[in-house]
Amino acid sequence: MITKEQILEAVKHVYDPEFKKPLVELNFVRDVLIKDEKVALTIVLSNDEELLKSQYKQDITGAIKHLGYQGEVHIRFRAISEHEKSELSGGDQKQQTRPQSKIRTDESTSILSPEANVRFIAVASGKGGVGKSTVTVNLAVALARKGKKVGIIDADIYGFSIPDMMGIENRPEMVENKIIPIERFGVKVISMGFFVEDNAPIIWRGPMLGKMLRNFFAEVTWGELDYVLLDLPPGTGDVALDVHQMIPQSKEIVVTTPHATAAFVAARAGAMALQTNHEILGVIENMSYYLDKSGEKDYVFGRGGGGKLAEQLNTELLAQIPLGAPDNLPTEEEYAPSVYKADTPTGLIYLEIADGIIAKLG
Ligand SMILES: Nc1ncnc2c1ncn2[C@@H]1O[C@H](COP(=O)(O)OP(=O)(O)O)[C@@H](O)[C@H]1O
Ligand SMILES: [Mg+2]
Repeated sequence: MITKEQILEAVKHVYDPEFKKPLVELNFVRDVLIKDEKVALTIVLSNDEELLKSQYKQDITGAIKHLGYQGEVHIRFRAISEHEKSELSGGDQKQQTRPQSKIRTDESTSILSPEANVRFIAVASGKGGVGKSTVTVNLAVALARKGKKVGIIDADIYGFSIPDMMGIENRPEMVENKIIPIERFGVKVISMGFFVEDNAPIIWRGPMLGKMLRNFFAEVTWGELDYVLLDLPPGTGDVALDVHQMIPQSKEIVVTTPHATAAFVAARAGAMALQTNHEILGVIENMSYYLDKSGEKDYVFGRGGGGKLAEQLNTELLAQIPLGAPDNLPTEEEYAPSVYKADTPTGLIYLEIADGIIAKLG
């Protein structure tokens, strides 16, 4: 098994052309992840030229293969931030004079910094259509109803749906070159959907996706937050992996339907969290049953998937949410197609889940 140290050692001869130093020394080799037959890492680019990228790919992949490693090497790129750039170029002369506290302030404005003390919860599922986004939205709203400061990052970059589900029609404003998230039901929301004209499909690949996600952290004025929920894309693709690498402290909730095959597929998403050392808070089984008029539960989609999945992932079944759309009316003042009202049976279930999470994470 290849190790991170071996990889860093192997690529130490690869130089950044701008700073004329090894990438490793500049801390430009990030998020090294070794999993199954795959090595994934991120390279910070001081310039965005395709030629440089392909040179890096060749050099780095070559160096890793040279270690005798046979598997796949996946390299992601992201541009250097203004902050990193000024730290590095100004660093030599200014380092002594710059007060330490200044640096700390800069970093602590990011919700990713430990000082910000934000709890991250990624909501994952094996496949689409199981209610992952519905759970993200309603859990976020429930935490806000409990008085927490909550944000949602719609990390389902291709399949964004949060703005529609929450009935958001306006677009974020820019203040001092930063994006102000839209606030709805007391939850601050950022989504790719805000930046796409007329629901145009998104055709970016690989590095751009990762970059987009990073922008959601770096280019957004989040203010103070207690919780950030991330609506992950379904499955275990690149964006899900990016999130795991970018937010190692994130906890995870896995959503499934009660059907056995759905739970089986969801197990893969859970396994990814475990392999990348993310704690799984629990499983939410959605569309568990239909409550008929006599109050009987009709298990239309089968039974037991959620419980079995929780057992497999060695975690708990947090809740079973019944079938039934919120009976909200478009004529209501704050209309949202997918947000259950606090005093409805499903709304109450979400408040209970929120209580459990607050008890666990604070
Ligand atoms: N408990 C539920 N009862 C009825 N419909 C639901 C329920 N949960 C989700 N839905 C609906 O199912 C569809 C898929 O849900 P969504 O949250 O978009 O799933 P995902 O994000 O996993 O693709 C949506 O139309 C949503 O409104
Ligand atoms: Mg979704």
